[in-house]
Amino acid sequence: MKKQQIGACVLAFFVIVGTACKKDPPPQPDVVDAGTHATLTPAVPAGNGAHGKELVLSFQCNRCHDGTGHPAADSGKHCVHCHEDIIEGRFKAPEASMTRWIPRVKDIQYAPSLTAMDKRVTRAFIEDYLLQPSPHFRPGLVQSMPRLALTVADARDIAAYLHPEADAPKVAAQPGDKVADLDLGRKVLDGKGCGSCHTMTGTAALVVSPIPVTLAQKDFAKAKALAPDLRFTRDRTTAASVSTWLKSPKAMKSDSVMPDIPLTDAEIAAATAYIMKADVAALQPKLVPARLPVLTRKVTYEEVDKKVFHRTCWHCHSEPDYAIGDGGPGNSGGLGFKPRGLNLVSYEGMTAGMVDDKGERSSVFAKEKDETPVMVRALINRYAEEAGGPTGEHRGMPLGYPALSLEEIQLVESWIAQGRPRG
Ligand code: HEC
Ligand code: HEC
Ligand code: HEC
Ligand code: HEC
Repeated sequence: MKKQQIGACVLAFFVIVGTACKKDPPPQPDVVDAGTHATLTPAVPAGNGAHGKELVLSFQCNRCHDGTGHPAADSGKHCVHCHEDIIEGRFKAPEASMTRWIPRVKDIQYAPSLTAMDKRVTRAFIEDYLLQPSPHFRPGLVQSMPRLALTVADARDIAAYLHPEADAPKVAAQPGDKVADLDLGRKVLDGKGCGSCHTMTGTAALVVSPIPVTLAQKDFAKAKALAPDLRFTRDRTTAASVSTWLKSPKAMKSDSVMPDIPLTDAEIAAATAYIMKADVAALQPKLVPARLPVLTRKVTYEEVDKKVFHRTCWHCHSEPDYAIGDGGPGNSGGLGFKPRGLNLVSYEGMTAGMVDDKGERSSVFAKEKDETPVMVRALINRYAEEAGGPTGEHRGMPLGYPALSLEEIQLVESWIAQGRPRG
């Protein structure tokens, strides 16, 4: 129990930094979700699903996700399909460009489909995750679910659209409840190919056993990339949902990329119990690291552009003339963001700054009270977001992607501190 409490506290840290971890939470009774025992948690307030459906379109979730209930965005706009087209050789571009691009987009060619979200996770999970998409629970994907400019009401409405039915109240375990065999559960995970795709952080590494069904290499690669870390499943869904899933993923989610794996009822019950209840080591809390001191050697625009701006940023802060009018979500707008007009492709573009909330141009090098330039603040804020903190005044950059390394941030900060030399 002690171990579980620490786990819960650290997990809460990811959701709301600080508040939940200040003092020990009161001991919680074990919860199961079968039957109709006493209610422990109140239902989440209802949202407006019809409005949620509109928001899914206006925030352009269909540029990455299938299964949104809206047609996929055009391939020329679709973040996942365009990257996939490049990898599959369907994209029309000179061969030299393709060779350069393929390794860059390799890790950003998949996003999970949102089909049957209502059966697979709780509504509360969807609502929380939209506001603070952390932790990153698909180790096979580069983190890229963006932190969108959604209000609490927006997130609630989208959750009500994707998950029309309110969550069933959690119920306390009763003395008569059947105790599942956790050892057998672990054997299923180790012996039925689960470890070929899944991890379960906080337990001994899963054995990589052969998957008992045949899968094409391409389908396997996709499934491995999209397989969630089973450590987080207990925070996303219920035991009832997991056991229905294990009977037949395809029956629950028509476009599931996890194959149906034949299991007996006893194996399903045991595997479910292990996933939901096995002791797991506490997660290492993510912290916002201290910045490195500015460099004393000279940093040129060429160096910082090559290592940071052209490497990571330009794609969303692009040159509209060059990219058929679409300068990316950080320039022309998109994913629900207003056009900020921030072009990070050229020295001139960068020094022209961005359009602020009042509609006026402001410098991204302007200093905050503590002398930190806005651009550096945005890069540091990405660490705070990854640690589960709320979105700061300056949204974490690169939007939704892993934070830059401290050395890369140091390079940007040093270049700005040296007066942004051009040569
Ligand atoms: C730029 C691409 C992108 C956009 C735009 C985007 N998402 Fe995502 N989303 C992702 C990726 C990638 C993941 C998987 C992240 C992970 O597992 O760490 C994800 C995960 C999710 C999940 C969890 C799904 C699951 O099965 O675990 C939900 C729910 C979700 N997104 C909803 C939305 C909604 C609603 C919108 C629009 C308001 C949206 N997303 C916009 C890329 C995107
Ligand atoms: C029309 C095709 C196309 C579309 C649409 C597209 N991309 Fe890309 N993306 C590319 C290409 C090509 C590259 C490689 C560019 C390079 O390396 O010079 C790339 C690279 C990237 C990178 C850089 C990866 C790295 O190595 O750092 C990110 C991030 C990215 N894309 C995100 C997105 C997001 C988010 C969207 C949707 C808002 C999107 N892309 C839409 C074609 C596309
Ligand atoms: C070929 C790869 C693969 C294998 C093998 C596999 N899974 Fe999965 N599993 C996935 C993918 C991918 C998903 C996400 C499905 C989706 O979103 O379409 C998933 C989802 C799940 C989920 C839901 C988790 C969550 O947090 O949403 C559970 C539970 C699960 N798998 C358990 C198992 C067990 C137990 C086994 C072994 C009997 C297994 N899986 C074998 C790929 C795999
Ligand atoms: C996936 C797309 C994406 C990537 C990659 C990205 N940005 Fe952004 N950026 C945006 C969007 C969208 C906004 C507008 C955010 C808003 O309006 O709150 C923005 C805004 C900004 C701002 C203004 C922040 C503020 O609120 O004052 C800065 C500075 C910035 N980006 C710098 C960068 C840098 C530097 C990189 C590369 C390390 C980068 N961005 C990578 C999409 C992106």
